[in-house]
Amino acid sequence: MEVIIKPDADAVSKEAARLFQRQLARQPASVLGLATGSTPLGLYRELAAMTQAGQIDFSRARSFNLDEYVGLSPDHPMSYRAFMREHLFTHIDIPPENTRLPDGLAPDVARHCAEYEEAIRAVGGIDLQLLGIGTDGHIGFNEPSSSLSSRTRLKTLTPRTIADNARFFGSEDKVPRHVITMGVGTIMEARSVLVLAMGASKAHAVAAMVEGPIMADVPASILQMHRFCALIIDEAAAGQLKRGDYYRWVFDHKPAWQRA
Ligand code: F6R
Repeated sequence: MEVIIKPDADAVSKEAARLFQRQLARQPASVLGLATGSTPLGLYRELAAMTQAGQIDFSRARSFNLDEYVGLSPDHPMSYRAFMREHLFTHIDIPPENTRLPDGLAPDVARHCAEYEEAIRAVGGIDLQLLGIGTDGHIGFNEPSSSLSSRTRLKTLTPRTIADNARFFGSEDKVPRHVITMGVGTIMEARSVLVLAMGASKAHAVAAMVEGPIMADVPASILQMHRFCALIIDEAAAGQLKRGDYYRWVFDHKPAWQRA
């Protein structure tokens, strides 16, 4: 795993945007795995600005989002479809028909999940998967104890994630209890993975992901097994890493061609 420590959240977003730009320049028809939540907001703003400036081209890209709340329609303001429309899709030139999210209203959830997996396979798999990390170490909505080889399926949110996400809904009781999420196994099949984390509230989860044992109790820890995983974090999120100075040293001394 390549650990890149930046001074602040803004620098994290800018570095992540550069990686997206490089990915699309190299492979214009890339399949992108996308995330929601607070973490990618700065990155999405950067991508919107780059699109405006003609510095990035999404016209041949496809995207699959990690997750969606069960019970929310795509038009519900708190649905992840609405989030993606508001924060990214209406600001970049990706064709709307090339964007996919799980359907929170799917009548047959198991079948829908199998079809979502098949749709990812049908386009050749995900080239670059973007992830945030939950304070409990979840990726997508694969909460602690999720199978490390799980596929897209329905999950029940932990009380902690419900509390963390209450800020978007106004109160905890309005947060749906269930989500459809890509599995840990689905995420691990992406050809490259980019994890972002900002702020001291993520420091514990980041340290467990990078330096702790690989275990279902910290689903993000399985990314230690991914061959091409970059983690870009700010100083606050790096606060509990034992080897922070080493990661900085490696970054400063890596040959340019070997960097994420
Ligand atoms: C979002 C997702 C989640 C978030 C995580 C962090 O699509 O899959 O794993 O990335 O909960 O959320 P924020 O970024 O709001 O701290």
